[in-house]
Amino acid sequence: MDGQEQLMLVMTNITKRFPGIVANDHVDFALRKGEIHTLLGENGAGKSTLMNVLDGIYYPDEGEIVIEGKRVDLRSPLDSLKHGIGMIHQHFMLVDSLSVIENVILGLESQGFYIDKKSVAGRIEAIAKKYNFRVDPYARIWQSRHCSRALAS
Ligand SMILES: Nc1ncnc2c1ncn2[C@@H]1O[C@H](COP(=O)(O)OP(=O)(O)OP(=O)(O)O)[C@@H](O)[C@H]1O
Ligand SMILES: [Mg+2]
Repeated sequence: MDGQEQLMLVMTNITKRFPGIVANDHVDFALRKGEIHTLLGENGAGKSTLMNVLDGIYYPDEGEIVIEGKRVDLRSPLDSLKHGIGMIHQHFMLVDSLSVIENVILGLESQGFYIDKKSVAGRIEAIAKKYNFRVDPYARIWQSRHCSRALAS
């Protein structure tokens, strides 16, 4: 098996422009199974923009993304998740005024008119328990941020 066959992800010619700036200017990035990469560059170099393109948050003006040999059209984080791409953000991306459950629901695929909050809470609690986190599904984000600051100080 040659290297080409093992390519998990290929981003080719990715260009993303914001008003007055080209954040990514024809960027190529490829990843093989099992590899860990670091994107290294000064502030404003375009690292987060490239990863946000991969996470479906930004749609590139040019370029293509191929995952396991298939061209993909990533138009939302949910699209990316379906292709096994998860993102941990540098900056806080939750809605402060909503609860933990409500934030999770925002990221779920549409489940019709009725959403069973209790079952979502149960799933959050199970994951928290598995990874030994203390998470109150009913807490509002601003409350938990307040708590973590208090714990840190
Ligand atoms: N949503 C946006 N609207 C307008 N300009 C943006 C937006 N996001 C990023 N930019 C601009 O695009 C360029 C690249 O920003 P980006 O955040 O990708 O850089 P970075 O390499 O992640 O920087 P840092 O090391 O500071 O995290 C910067 O000039 C930034 O100001
Ligand atoms: Mg960044």
